[in-house]
Amino acid sequence: MTNDCERILLTKEQIDKRVGEIAAELNEKYAGRHPLCVCILKGAVVFYADLLRRLDLDVMLDFMVVSSYGTGSVSSGALKIAKDLSVDIRGQEVIIVEDIIDSGFTLACLKKMMLERGAKSVTIVTLLDKASRRTADVSSDYNGFVIEDEFVVGYGLDYAERYRNLPYIGILKRSVYEK
Ligand code: IMP
Ligand code: MG
Repeated sequence: MTNDCERILLTKEQIDKRVGEIAAELNEKYAGRHPLCVCILKGAVVFYADLLRRLDLDVMLDFMVVSSYGTGSVSSGALKIAKDLSVDIRGQEVIIVEDIIDSGFTLACLKKMMLERGAKSVTIVTLLDKASRRTADVSSDYNGFVIEDEFVVGYGLDYAERYRNLPYIGILKRSVYEK
């Protein structure tokens, strides 16, 4: 799998350090409160698990499985909810945990939906931000790393469901997806 990466963009150590910094900020912001941390599966699974273990807060957890249609390297039009939340979020302080914000379409849809359902607040936490590709009017409240417009895999992120278990984030060789 490593051979399919052009190079490592973020090492396990770099990610670990940054996750700790984000957790520290959340610990300060939410001290004494009980936020609901929503993991956006599948991509955020590794980030979520690492982040949670560094939160010194009385949190609740929930999960959603969403995907924009298509399995390619560019996300397309509509958001598909394959698994919805299992709790009522009315009055809750929601923290959405997502792997990457790209066009922003996914997070714009999710934030709007959660506010419509009566969440008291919605905070967006992302590990990666491809800032130059944003088209939707949304931004992360907490983000790990701003990255260039390159297709990355590992640490939860996939290409056609592969590479999610790499412990680092690598730039996928173009030859892998332009075949
Ligand atoms: P958005 O809706 O365009 O912001 O896309 C967000 C989703 O696209 C993320 O949750 C990822 O699943 C996927 N995505 C965007 N860029 C990458 C990438 O470089 N590698 C893997 N998945 C990506
Ligand atoms: Mg995703």
